[in-house]
Amino acid sequence: MSENRVLTARIDPEKCQGHARCHALAPELFELDELGNARVRGSGRIPPALEDQAWIARANCPELAVEIVEVAEAAG
Ligand code: F3S
Repeated sequence: MSENRVLTARIDPEKCQGHARCHALAPELFELDELGNARVRGSGRIPPALEDQAWIARANCPELAVEIVEVAEAAG
């Protein structure tokens, strides 16, 4: 059994102030709750095709609330 490294997005709820840029730039990855604060969709796992959008969203959050981490995932 091997291990894959996958990128996963997270929102720090302590930092998020609802600027919504993450959602505007990467709506497939981030949604807004009823207060307008961001949360990741699903597990937060970033498909390879959305990696660029994820990094752009991270770079554009003025509160530095978007985190992108690499996590190990068991494979085959
Ligand atoms: Fe929050 Fe930043 Fe998005 S403040 S709504 S994580 S752009």
